[in-house]
Amino acid sequence: MQSKTNQRSDRYSGSLENRFRFLQEIVEAVLTVWSRDRVGVRLSPNGVFNDMGSPDYRETFLYVAKELNSYGLAYLHLLDGLAFGFHELGEPMTLAEFREVFDRALIGNCGYTQETAEKAIADGNGDLIAFGRPFISNPDLVKRFGSNLPLNPPAEQDVWYSFGQEGYTDFPTYDESQAIEA
Ligand SMILES: Cc1cc2nc3c(=O)[nH]c(=O)nc-3n(C[C@H](O)[C@H](O)[C@H](O)COP(=O)(O)O)c2cc1C
Repeated sequence: MQSKTNQRSDRYSGSLENRFRFLQEIVEAVLTVWSRDRVGVRLSPNGVFNDMGSPDYRETFLYVAKELNSYGLAYLHLLDGLAFGFHELGEPMTLAEFREVFDRALIGNCGYTQETAEKAIADGNGDLIAFGRPFISNPDLVKRFGSNLPLNPPAEQDVWYSFGQEGYTDFPTYDESQAIEA
């Protein structure tokens, strides 16, 4: 989809319609198997990972979101936050912009805290906020949010892909950490 990296010269390149075609065909193929209320798409409009970041990012992603809206999918999941890198080609895209063109469930993600997540939902910009890294170091994240308990420090990057228990199952729940301290 990204004009920056799409160097093709066929019907999958060039115009917005052509660059959306690959995702469109995937969505349509998946919808032959699953009902639309079980299919979602995830987009990274602000990301820089793996060479992302095209000058026409806003035009591209709003076009894609509008097109996806016509399929009545379960959700659109957006990495709107900048905590995993930002291409810095202009103003970051926001959940609010996507809210205007996508009617079904909108999920925000990346760098959210409980506070910013609750604000995004209260402001009506998103329906759900997803958490990644806080779940790695807090197996009981839902309980901690629900009871306003402090979080464990985030996992160090060098354990993100470790092969043993380190980084996977060695982060204590709040109750376990209290028992350790006692
Ligand atoms: C260890 C690790 C692996 C990840 N792998 C993927 C992946 O394969 N595909 C993907 O779209 N995002 C991946 N992500 C990104 C997360 O889905 C999420 O967008 C990111 O962690 C930002 O949310 P957070 O600030 O709540 O952690 C990964 C993140 C982490 C920490």
